[in-house]
Amino acid sequence: MYTWAVFLHLIFVTFWLGGMLFTVAVLVPATRKKLAPQKGLLFTELGTRFSRLSWIIFPLLLLTGFAALIGRGFSAETIFSANFWNTLYGGRLMGKLYLFGLMLILSGIHDFWLGPKAARLMDVEPGTQKTQRYRKVTSWVGRINLLIGLGILYFAVTLVR
Ligand code: HEM
Repeated sequence: MYTWAVFLHLIFVTFWLGGMLFTVAVLVPATRKKLAPQKGLLFTELGTRFSRLSWIIFPLLLLTGFAALIGRGFSAETIFSANFWNTLYGGRLMGKLYLFGLMLILSGIHDFWLGPKAARLMDVEPGTQKTQRYRKVTSWVGRINLLIGLGILYFAVTLVR
């Protein structure tokens, strides 16, 4: 069970982090020139699909993460005791969970408010200051979320070493 939990955990991680890195490194630069006129539509379609899958994956990350903890030999009783969170392992896991919580809040703001609003404005009133403002804030929230994702990755790597 332990191996399967970590295996699935890593598949979910690669999907989510890989999707964000792909967006920043490939999708956004690719839509600056030839695809610029369809940018709003493209981001609405791809963004909605990616976000829908991400919100399915977030609880699965939590589930497989806790399954890995149990697989490592920590009982549910240990995990919910204060002593566990005061150990080096527990502290690192707590750091990871704090960042995970922050990432969920920022993803919510990005996926359900800023992103859809910016994409709609790009289609309805492209070029206005309001549209530019929403685009800028949306893409910065996305970038910050990617940084948080990399922070989670760092905690995850130190967790097991
Ligand atoms: C976006 C969120 C997350 C990311 C990017 C992430 C990433 C990772 C990665 C890359 C590893 C493998 C580390 C290695 O072998 O070097 C890992 C392991 C682990 N993760 Fe996560 N994780 C996330 C969420 C969670 C959550 C919510 C939990 C909740 C408990 C969790 C618990 C664990 C545990 C316990 C391990 C160690 C598994 C082992 O024993 O090898 N993770 N995580």
